[in-house]
Amino acid sequence: MRETIAIFAGKFDPMTRGHVDIATRAAALFAEVHVLAHAGAKSLFSAEERLALAEAELAGLENVKVGTFGGLLVDRAKALGATVLVRGMRGSHDWDHEMQMAFANRDLMPELETVFLAPSDGTTMISGSLVREVTRLGGDPSSWVSPAVAEALRAKFA
Ligand code: COA
Repeated sequence: MRETIAIFAGKFDPMTRGHVDIATRAAALFAEVHVLAHAGAKSLFSAEERLALAEAELAGLENVKVGTFGGLLVDRAKALGATVLVRGMRGSHDWDHEMQMAFANRDLMPELETVFLAPSDGTTMISGSLVREVTRLGGDPSSWVSPAVAEALRAKFA
């Protein structure tokens, strides 16, 4: 898998410790990993803000490139020459949604294989909506996001 180009796509609104965990695991497996934030997604942070936060979070991973995308993910995969789509599978609650996306992407691009990675123990219950909601209500999201992302969240709701 050392020659393989992989994509890890999501909303990353914002990037959590869970996303960093999956990106780090992917970087250890594949030659090149493109972490792509979906620009069209309805989000708290703009696409530019999500990109900047993600770049800072993943700066230490040499074979990871961060970007945004719009339109179909398979079109970007074709343009990049990617053959693997990485997704984190946090638990059974992710299963239906993940399989639906995996089958849709396989129909659209059979040569793109979806690979599910098991996250670290401490990250299985993290979600973007959890960190946004807790911060909005005045709680501290530091267990789930880096200090820089926590600061960006607090600034959003100040
Ligand atoms: N750790 C922590 N949280 C995680 C996580 C992990 N390992 N994996 C996912 N999550 C969370 C996210 O934070 C997000 O939480 P929220 O909904 O509470 O904000 C949630 O799980 C959904 O994950 P995410 O990957 O961001 O969104 P998605 O499942 O809706 O998929 C795309 C987003 C961009 C991958 C998908 O919509 C897409 O490919 N769109 C492009 C259009 C396209 O090609 N469509 C056809 C194929 S489906």
